[in-house]
Amino acid sequence: MLVAPSLLAADFLHLETEVGKLNSGADWIHLDVMDGTFVPNISFGFSVLEALAPVAKKPMDVHLMVVHPERWFKRLSELGVSCVSFHLEAAGRRTSANIREIQGLGMKAGVVINPDVPVQKLYPYIGKADFFLIMSVFAGFGGQKFIYESLDRVAALRAEIQKRGATALIEVDGGVSAANAAALREAGADVVVAGSSVFKSQDPVAAMQALREA
Ligand code: DX5
Ligand code: ZN
Repeated sequence: MLVAPSLLAADFLHLETEVGKLNSGADWIHLDVMDGTFVPNISFGFSVLEALAPVAKKPMDVHLMVVHPERWFKRLSELGVSCVSFHLEAAGRRTSANIREIQGLGMKAGVVINPDVPVQKLYPYIGKADFFLIMSVFAGFGGQKFIYESLDRVAALRAEIQKRGATALIEVDGGVSAANAAALREAGADVVVAGSSVFKSQDPVAAMQALREA
């Protein structure tokens, strides 16, 4: 599996050192942008993304937890971001248009759902989106407990993608650790996001490697 550590769990006083760890051990760098409206929390925005962009050596994977995500696609593409995901709950009928816009700007487009959205709601975007992000906690905060029902959602989505002969990566985000990574891989996950289990570990680079090989 690919490992996309979430910078949200990093030490913000020493971001340069933290990004250094990701440059050596991550596959993607997962960046959680929150607006305090779509989710009840605010993380970081463009001032941090702009500082990171020139030092990030791995593809930047921006997870937008904001209302009106379409407002930010162009700016993200100008920063050299590789993957952009936005919530289906925030985009509604604009979802297909958002996917096309992101792809038109040369980035990979991902559609995200929270644990209370039926996974079938993603099916209309199979064949359109480059990847899907299944939240295994409710978006908004790091350090929450993995919701085990997410495994069935990943498996159902994987089966539907296969049934349609399409290709799309499945990314999973929230409470991911060595305790559930193998089960996620078996369910059909391709990319795992991990915040606390990487950054709170004694050896973050080894923790990333363990997730990759789970
Ligand atoms: C939650 C974020 C996650 C979070 C994951 O809203 O989307 O990316 O940082 O953190 P952990 O791995 O600690 O659950
Ligand atoms: Zn995230």
